[in-house]
This record gives sequence, structure tokens and C-alpha cells, in this order.
Amino acid sequence: MTTSADFATQPIGFGTWPFQDDEAERAVASAIDVGYRLIDTASKYENEAAVGRGIAASGVPREEIFIQTKLRGHDHGDVRGALERSLEWLGVEYLDSWLIHWPLPMLGLYPKAFEEMAQAKQDGLVREIGLSNFLPEHLDVIKQETGLVPAVDQVQCDPGLNRPELRAELATRGIQMQSWSPLARGGEVLEAAPVLEVADARGLTAGQVVLAWHRAVGAVPIARSGNPQRQRENLAAVAIELTPEEVTKISSLPQRGLGDFDPRTRDER
Ligand SMILES: NC(=O)c1ccc[n+]([C@@H]2O[C@H](COP(=O)([O-])OP(=O)(O)OC[C@H]3O[C@@H](n4cnc5c(N)ncnc54)[C@H](OP(=O)(O)O)[C@@H]3O)[C@@H](O)[C@H]2O)c1
Repeated sequence: MTTSADFATQPIGFGTWPFQDDEAERAVASAIDVGYRLIDTASKYENEAAVGRGIAASGVPREEIFIQTKLRGHDHGDVRGALERSLEWLGVEYLDSWLIHWPLPMLGLYPKAFEEMAQAKQDGLVREIGLSNFLPEHLDVIKQETGLVPAVDQVQCDPGLNRPELRAELATRGIQMQSWSPLARGGEVLEAAPVLEVADARGLTAGQVVLAWHRAVGAVPIARSGNPQRQRENLAAVAIELTPEEVTKISSLPQRGLGDFDPRTRDER
């Protein structure tokens, strides 16, 4: 039987957005087969049933897998109902990790929702509770209004949006950071000169260098690939240690802003 402590030590997670139906099922089964154990989904992705089928198809016992899903914006006022639906879609009796997907400060419901999630944890239906896309100002509200400490904050991060202040803030608060879109969705970060230089010098792929960078800065990357060869290649990054110089070099990429994904204004339900 796994414990929440085991969840906290997972070095990399497998992302399932935007996979649907058979593609989701196949990708998840193959990811588990190559060795991923932390599987990330969300009710918003509308693929929990397919993800659940992929987990079942893998043949690996349920208790060896860490299933993480998220409370969508529409459900901030119906936390228990949302949990029942996610459990049913995934075909499981409990979640290993359950996150509030976006804070939606314009609704003002997230502190109460988080308290209800804590109750679900007490009831044994969820092992760990956490957040996603929460900024320090939202974490302050959680602290002041609930006194609860989230296990995780899953935020957008890659070497081109590397968020040093947020990383430091989460470390100070004892909250594990997870990086979503850690490979910048396969975009130009994987072609950036500092990344390619480290990759060439070390005989690694650009994807491995970027995932090793996340590990080096203390984040757990949630990486997605539908390709079993790349799934394996990405997973192997957990054994790669970058030097401080390599980390600095990769961190020096030009930085983008949050744009449409600013949690203060994003109304993602
Ligand atoms: N909390 C949130 O609000 C939030 C938001 C977005 C995403 N997420 C989560 O984070 C997960 C990951 O983010 P993401 O899916 O947006 O993007 P990502 O993991 O950064 O990138 C995925 C893309 O990169 C390609 N890729 C994977 N490995 C590669 C490699 N080694 N070399 C080159 N290309 C590679 C994949 O293509 P192939 O399939 O062809 O390999 C795919 O197109 C999502 O699946 C989801 O679970 C959470």
C-alpha cells in the first residue's frame, strides 16, 4: 500500500491533457508500462474515464499508482459531488492527490472548497490535497482563511517562464511545486541554444535536459508524450544531474510573461 509520503517523492509525473478516449487509454497504459507512476488528469480534461481504463489496462496494481486529478471551476460550489464524479469516472475508491485546478478569484469560493477537500481527506477518500495555478496572494488567503497547508501547487513553468520568485516562495512555505507544460508543449524552448549546447555536450536529448532542469530547481515536471519512445526518454531524465553552471545557463533564457494564463484573471471553469 502506498502512502502520501511516497506520492511526495515521485520525481516526474505523466500529463494526460489533451488526450481523449482511446488515445488517452493507450498513452496512460504505455506510460505506466515504461515506469511512470504519477498520472495527472483533471475533470476539466473530460478524459478521466479513459485515464482510468488506461490505468486498469496497465495491469499494475492500483495501490502502486498515484492518481492526481483536479476540481474544475464549475465545481467550486459542489466539492463532494465533484469528488464522487471523479472517483466514478476514474473507476477508483480514492484519489492520491486532488488539486483545485484554478483559483478563480472572481468567484471567491476557493477557500471554502479547499476546506471541503480537507474533509474528504479526513474521510479517507483523498490522500493529499493541493492547488494548481495559485499565486502567493491566493496562498495567503488559503493560509489565513483555512489554516491548511497544501501539499502541492502545480503551475506553468519551463526554462522560458522559469518563475524564480514563485519557486522560492513555494519552497519557503513547504509546498511542492509541480511544473505543467514543462517542455513548453514541445516548442522553441527545446531548440534554444543553451539547451542544445548542454544536450550536445552530455549526449542527451533537449527534452531530457529541460526535464533535468526542472528537477534541479526543485520542481516535479508533469510531462506528456503519446510516443512510448519519448515517454521512456523523458522518464530517464530523473537520473540526470545538471551542474550548477548548466542550470544557470538554461535559466538564462529570455523570459515570457503569463499572458492569457494569469491566474488573477483567467476564468477557466
Ligand atoms: N494545471 C493546469 O492548469 C495545467 C495546464 C496545462 C497542462 N497541465 C498538465 O501538464 C501536462 C503537460 O503539459 P502539456 O501537455 O501542455 O505540455 P508538455 O508536456 O510541455 O509538452 C507536450 C508536447 O511535447 C512533445 N514532447 C514530449 N516529449 C518530448 C521530447 N522529449 N522532445 C520533443 N518533444 C516532446 C509532445 O509530443 P509527442 O506526444 O509527439 O511526444 C507534446 O506535443 C498536461 O498534459 C496536463 O496533464 C496542467
